[in-house]
Amino acid sequence: MLKDVKQILDIINLNAKKGTMLPKSKKEVLGMLANYSVAAMGNKVIGTCGFKIWVDESIEIISLATLKRFQGQGIGARLIQESLERGKNLGLKRFFAMTVAPKVFSKAGFEVVGYDRLSLKIWVDCSDCPRNASGPGDKDCNEQAVELLLD
Ligand SMILES: CC(C)(COP(=O)(O)OP(=O)(O)OC[C@H]1O[C@@H](n2cnc3c(N)ncnc32)[C@H](O)[C@@H]1OP(=O)(O)O)[C@@H](O)C(=O)NCCC(=O)NCCS
Repeated sequence: MLKDVKQILDIINLNAKKGTMLPKSKKEVLGMLANYSVAAMGNKVIGTCGFKIWVDESIEIISLATLKRFQGQGIGARLIQESLERGKNLGLKRFFAMTVAPKVFSKAGFEVVGYDRLSLKIWVDCSDCPRNASGPGDKDCNEQAVELLLD
């Protein structure tokens, strides 16, 4: 919801400063607000997750984060499930993420795959990443590619 945008941005950009995800601007989150889910305690957003649909009809799970003191309670797993359900309901079958936390995704059925599986994402987003010094999939990258294919 609109009232959550500032808190969503705070969670994402706090983690971005730690290097676990890419930063997002207010414009980006507002533009994709319908794709974001939150976990909340009252009015406080304690976790968030979004998705982005690509032109090859794949769907990327983005901006997954739980506030530190609420981690390890299954919130991240539930947020991934919610995005999966929303994607499935839209008819999408190929889910992926670039993540520093592949274990959270493997619990949801994702498999670690080579960067080459995500060529569109890699060329569009990774080329702007400060960790990508010499090209997509550069050795400085701290994220693994994970993918889930539905029948
Ligand atoms: C990754 C993150 C969202 C997981 O959220 P969470 O609410 O703690 O997740 P869950 O409680 O549902 O944990 C699910 C499983 O993943 C594991 N896990 C959680 N965080 C993990 C991490 N950073 N690295 C590896 N495994 C992790 C948990 O141990 C748990 O497994 P278990 O059930 O065997 O204990 C959270 O650690 C976080 O916000 N990290 C910082 C931001 C980040 O790295 N985001 C991922 C970018 S895609």
